[in-house]
Amino acid sequence: MLSNTTSLMKVSVERGKYKVCDAKKVAGGQYHTKRQQWLKQHIAEFIQQANAQHYVDPFAGHGDLFRTLLHLIGEKSTIGYDLDPTLHWPINNSLIEIPKHPNSILVTNPPYLAKHSAKRKGVEHSVCDYYNDSGFDDLYLIAMSKCIKSYDKCVFIVPETYVNSNTRFDGIVSITIILESIFDDTDTPVCVVCYDKSFLGDVQIFIGDHLIGRMAHLNSFRLRPKKDVSIRFNIPDGRIGLRAVDMLDSSKKIKFMPASELKYNVKNIKNSSRLITYIDLDGVQTEQIPKICEKANELLIKIREASSDIIFSPFKGNAKDGTRRRRLDYDLARAILEKAYKETVPRPNTPAQLRMF
Ligand SMILES: C[S@@+](CC[C@H](N)C(=O)[O-])C[C@H]1O[C@@H](n2cnc3c(N)ncnc32)[C@H](O)[C@@H]1O
Repeated sequence: MLSNTTSLMKVSVERGKYKVCDAKKVAGGQYHTKRQQWLKQHIAEFIQQANAQHYVDPFAGHGDLFRTLLHLIGEKSTIGYDLDPTLHWPINNSLIEIPKHPNSILVTNPPYLAKHSAKRKGVEHSVCDYYNDSGFDDLYLIAMSKCIKSYDKCVFIVPETYVNSNTRFDGIVSITIILESIFDDTDTPVCVVCYDKSFLGDVQIFIGDHLIGRMAHLNSFRLRPKKDVSIRFNIPDGRIGLRAVDMLDSSKKIKFMPASELKYNVKNIKNSSRLITYIDLDGVQTEQIPKICEKANELLIKIREASSDIIFSPFKGNAKDGTRRRRLDYDLARAILEKAYKETVPRPNTPAQLRMF
């Protein structure tokens, strides 16, 4: 049961900063889908083609998804469940099991909560059994697995991080990245996943209404680091600066640059830094750094264009021009720097001269 209490979120353990959270809202992922822009034309067609008699939302909240579907489904029956007794649906713990209704399609926006966030937000005790029993590390993945177990056709609104997550459910027909903000109380970037148990093909990726390609093709632009060049991240006196995230100002995107250009206080660099940092490349002369950064930025732009950005993690909120902000993970940053280094600096004849990592 979801209980009405507060919890303390660790904002910064080092600085002793905490924030009070609504434990029921956090543990229950109670962020309701207030706006309708998730229902793109191809998603509406997928729902209609199911030709279902019932529409099931096992995490029904305020029933907002049913309201959005009303013009599509007319008087057809809707079946909702929720764990919160104040919401007037039949009570069901849908993270354990979802009742089956024949001739139905399931449409839902389940709770999202990563295991590490549950700990940081002080609600671990109310959700830890779900993670332990399922082997998944986020409530939305547990929810998806339970929905798929009971229904052959499903539509999920889930965090956009699903696109690059290691969990891949079979039967995914399409993933649609939603650029509009559809919630009032969270800026978590989301996507809509259409699932059909009988589908065996490759996932189609849409941004809004536009089909941008197939998942396998877009993923082929992801470089993997060979780790044959010594590159060290989060080094306060590193000679390369990396802004690893797009800023709100859309002219300031992810960029490699000589350290002096970054103008970031080195005292803020920690082992855990993931957004702005300094990097060093061993065995490289300082005069070569600007050229390596230039090459790295060229490669980065090519990869962003070719993959339509989808291999980069989404970052909260959009830039001022409405595009999704993205984050460069350090694995891809390393792979890009390795390639830039090899294409810029004359290679030594013997591989032994390169340090192995
Ligand atoms: C993200 S909200 C979405 C509500 C609604 N589907 C929408 O899109 O507006 C998730 C809902 O799941 C409910 N919930 C959380 N844990 C649940 C569980 N174990 N079983 C059933 N419902 C649960 C919450 O109370 C909340 O209403």
